[in-house]
Amino acid sequence: MNYIGSKYSLLDFIHKTISEVTGYASGDGFIFADLFAGTGVVGASYRKEGCYVISNDIQYYSYVINKYCIEGSENANASLINELNSLSGTEGFVYKNYCAGSNCGRNYFTDENGKRCDAIRIKIEELYNQNKISEEIYFALLAGLINSIDKYANTASVYGAFLKHIKKSAQKQFKLELLPRIEGPKGKVYNEDINELIAKVHGDVLYLDPPYNSRQYCANYHVLETIARYDNPVLKGKTGLRDSNGQKSKYCSKRTLASEFENLIANAKFKYIFLSYNNEGLMDIDAIKKIMSKYGAYKCFTQSYKRFKADKDENRNISGSETVEYLHCLIKER
Ligand SMILES: C[S@@+](CC[C@H](N)C(=O)[O-])C[C@H]1O[C@@H](n2cnc3c(N)ncnc32)[C@H](O)[C@@H]1O
Repeated sequence: MNYIGSKYSLLDFIHKTISEVTGYASGDGFIFADLFAGTGVVGASYRKEGCYVISNDIQYYSYVINKYCIEGSENANASLINELNSLSGTEGFVYKNYCAGSNCGRNYFTDENGKRCDAIRIKIEELYNQNKISEEIYFALLAGLINSIDKYANTASVYGAFLKHIKKSAQKQFKLELLPRIEGPKGKVYNEDINELIAKVHGDVLYLDPPYNSRQYCANYHVLETIARYDNPVLKGKTGLRDSNGQKSKYCSKRTLASEFENLIANAKFKYIFLSYNNEGLMDIDAIKKIMSKYGAYKCFTQSYKRFKADKDENRNISGSETVEYLHCLIKER
């Protein structure tokens, strides 16, 4: 998925730095926690190396994807995928609220793709409720649905707005595809606010990748949240935002960020803590250093990085196309 803050292209830098600081090597089987997991790429890369991975995110669509990547081992068979892809479209929640043909005033998907998405989402729930598929297959199908439908969205990149005219990639006929199966130990996935979860987990390495700025994930990915939950929410305004239901992150506000972060570090029961952040984030490097240094030995690694595509689409007035990506490291002593 093209996700704000995805660490897909920084995986080598993250693995190299974590190995350098901790001395861990692939196959050592340590407990690795990825508690702002997003698309789950970081946790999944450690599961592949034999780690027991603890994963968490406040968003439910992310929980769904991580249930598949971190806990899943079974996959749906091809005949079930064919059956789902052959369903006739249904005028369900997606069509009625996100497609222009229903006169809702929104244009996130073509009418046909919206109806196909509804038919598949309804069928997945029905199969699960009738005990025709296991919980693992349920999450495999939902994760596949979230990941696939995103490729047909008529947006510039996120769901903060839709485009007036249907763009080329959104015109193609929507097809459900499964995500690749991740081999490795079965981990544990949570869907909680990290500052509440932190008291309940412990391990070797804690990897932190919070939002860097004030853009809330609940607002930028609200359509995926609704498709994942399929809970008929009341939608508001031109873009059809759902109620954030306590999903507004304190890491997106300068007022709450520093105290929330310090609280997290203070309560973490992990020997090593790594924080990804960049040079344009709400918290500056000195503030991070000051907080982390209070709890043990601190070090910082950097890598230059190409900015997320949406930054160019939005009016953020930042020149240049590269940012500096930091990996702040703490060996916890207190
Ligand atoms: C920068 S993204 C993580 C990207 C991820 N590392 C990846 O590669 O896809 C930050 C994530 O933190 C989640 N988040 C924000 N505040 C949170 C909180 N208080 N507790 C748990 N998750 C939170 C967001 O939903 C988002 O998925």
